[in-house]
Amino acid sequence: MPSYLITGASRGLGWEFLRQLSSDPNNTVIGLVRNKSGTDKRVSEELPERSNIHILQADISDYAALQNAAAETAHLTGGGLDYLISNAGVVSHFDAYDPIGVLGQQPDVLEDDLMTMLKVNVVGNIHLFNLFVPLIRKGQVKKVIAISSGQGSLEIIPKLKIKAASLYAISKAGLNTAVAKFSAQYADEGILFMSICPGMVDTGRYVDATPEQMVGLNEMLKSFAEYAPHFQGPSTTEAAVRDVLSVMNQSSVGNGDGGSFVSHYGNQQWL
Ligand SMILES: NC(=O)c1ccc[n+]([C@@H]2O[C@H](COP(=O)([O-])OP(=O)(O)OC[C@H]3O[C@@H](n4cnc5c(N)ncnc54)[C@H](OP(=O)(O)O)[C@@H]3O)[C@@H](O)[C@H]2O)c1
Repeated sequence: MPSYLITGASRGLGWEFLRQLSSDPNNTVIGLVRNKSGTDKRVSEELPERSNIHILQADISDYAALQNAAAETAHLTGGGLDYLISNAGVVSHFDAYDPIGVLGQQPDVLEDDLMTMLKVNVVGNIHLFNLFVPLIRKGQVKKVIAISSGQGSLEIIPKLKIKAASLYAISKAGLNTAVAKFSAQYADEGILFMSICPGMVDTGRYVDATPEQMVGLNEMLKSFAEYAPHFQGPSTTEAAVRDVLSVMNQSSVGNGDGGSFVSHYGNQQWL
């Protein structure tokens, strides 16, 4: 019975990981969420009869709650965990459209926004990994996947001159570095740590964009289309999760994937 824990399983990509992985009754699938009652309700309405789904509660920035979640996970699985999918993340609205110099006109907001993303996307995940390594060590498969973003790629930012999402990109670059450091420590034990970008996925991020904000967004989409002529716009959560799971399943410490940061294609093609 392979066991999976997915953070941020309440909605978006996290929900889709929960949905796809729990479709196999042999899998034990644990969703870690902030709103347990809301997610339990969604599971009972949209995925009834899936007794292999378990929902636990923790905010990623709450160390004690993560400790409890690790203990509850061990209780559910008998001690080990095969796959940890670290998907929860704060996606800023403040930095979504404007370049970093414009964000700097509101220095206090810039600082608060960046610190929130560093706290959740970087520090929270470091605590999560440290607390779950003992379970992963006891698992059969030993894979830890961080859902990162190509926005944090130092190759693509200058190449496409991506001005938006600066603070978010900084937090994801920090996450990638943390993942590489975990890999450096644990690859010799056969534990795979890697970062995977799901591509650009429609999870409602730009629904409330104003016409002025759409100008910046369209500029970014135009540069995406030049970089990847096949790019047709954001993909569905269904397709993105299928791609990420395929990359995860094909990757291993033995293949040299430990600590790597790849796209949903398993390489450095980000779109
Ligand atoms: N969508 C894209 O195009 C895209 C592209 C590249 C990377 N990603 C990454 O993929 C992941 C999922 O993205 P998404 O588009 O599905 O985002 P989303 O719809 O905004 O969902 C974010 C998830 O993270 C959870 N979360 C946020 N802060 C948390 C905290 N402090 N503690 C615990 N859970 C927290 C949210 O829980 P609540 O429901 O409680 O708020 C929600 O489940 C993120 O890490 C994102 O950076 C997305």
